[in-house]
Amino acid sequence: ARHLLGVEQLSPPEITTLLDLAESYVALNRRTVKHGDALEGLTQINLFFENSTRTQSSFELAGKRLGADVMNMAVAQSSVKKGETLIDTALTLNAMQPDLLVVRHPHSGAVNLLAEKVNCAVINAGDGRHEHPTQALLDALTIRRAKGRLHRLTVAICGDIAHSRVARSNLILLGKMENRVRLVGPATLMPSGVGELGCEVCEDMAEGLKDADVVMMLRLQKERMDGGFIPSEREYFHRWGLDAAKLALAKPDAIVMHPGPMNRGVEIDGTIADDINCSVIQDQVEMGVAVRMAAMDLLARNLRAERGAKAAGEG
Ligand code: CP
Repeated sequence: ARHLLGVEQLSPPEITTLLDLAESYVALNRRTVKHGDALEGLTQINLFFENSTRTQSSFELAGKRLGADVMNMAVAQSSVKKGETLIDTALTLNAMQPDLLVVRHPHSGAVNLLAEKVNCAVINAGDGRHEHPTQALLDALTIRRAKGRLHRLTVAICGDIAHSRVARSNLILLGKMENRVRLVGPATLMPSGVGELGCEVCEDMAEGLKDADVVMMLRLQKERMDGGFIPSEREYFHRWGLDAAKLALAKPDAIVMHPGPMNRGVEIDGTIADDINCSVIQDQVEMGVAVRMAAMDLLARNLRAERGAKAAGEG
């Protein structure tokens, strides 16, 4: 495929291929093997219309580790602030001949729309509540490394499911890889039609965490709540926040995940987040660089093949 817009479009063998390549990039990211050149001669533009710490910086590092010329578009200082539309901004950048465009946008579907207008490869770095494919892929790599497999695991995704593109992408990917997924949280923070998603839904943490291999906690995404239900943080932590007592209900070797940014004392107790015996939160961040290297490498191969075929056709 030309673009990476969602995990929905990926088959299980494609997911495995990408994770295997990412695994090979872990050492390169740690610089225990020499610098890579898979993106040599290519230009990558990061275009983030929403805040980011992990995704933007890891895409930048991933591009640089593989030899790309990387440009971070400073959206806050751009002509977007003068009313220029997403599409006009994308067409303007497209005219500068980038090869890879990494885009985050607050509206679901905006990145897919943009991908139809440009000549380069587009990677979705998170669009509204829709998808965050590289997050689900880095979560999958983290799980596979910690558990030794990525199938037949019980994964509890807990918290604000309704507003979470991370939950949606993980649910799709983990389902494709034949895992048992449970969505756990208040009914008010479950998406509509959740019964049709092919997973279990629990309002109670004791039920949801029982025998889980993986406990994935999510932030309350107040910026997407549109003035709707916002629970009191104290009450929320009491019922749905992960602490030692609730984690004890999962399997003894369960791992704890969080995509970040975390709100300690709201959805997760800080001591659990920092406990290296169970928490893989920092591993998730590290795997983010390796997964983004692999994703851009595979897209660059497709792009080069497409351009080669076009040049041969014209010749
Ligand atoms: N997990 C994630 O997308 O984090 P950022 O918003 O910091 O990129």
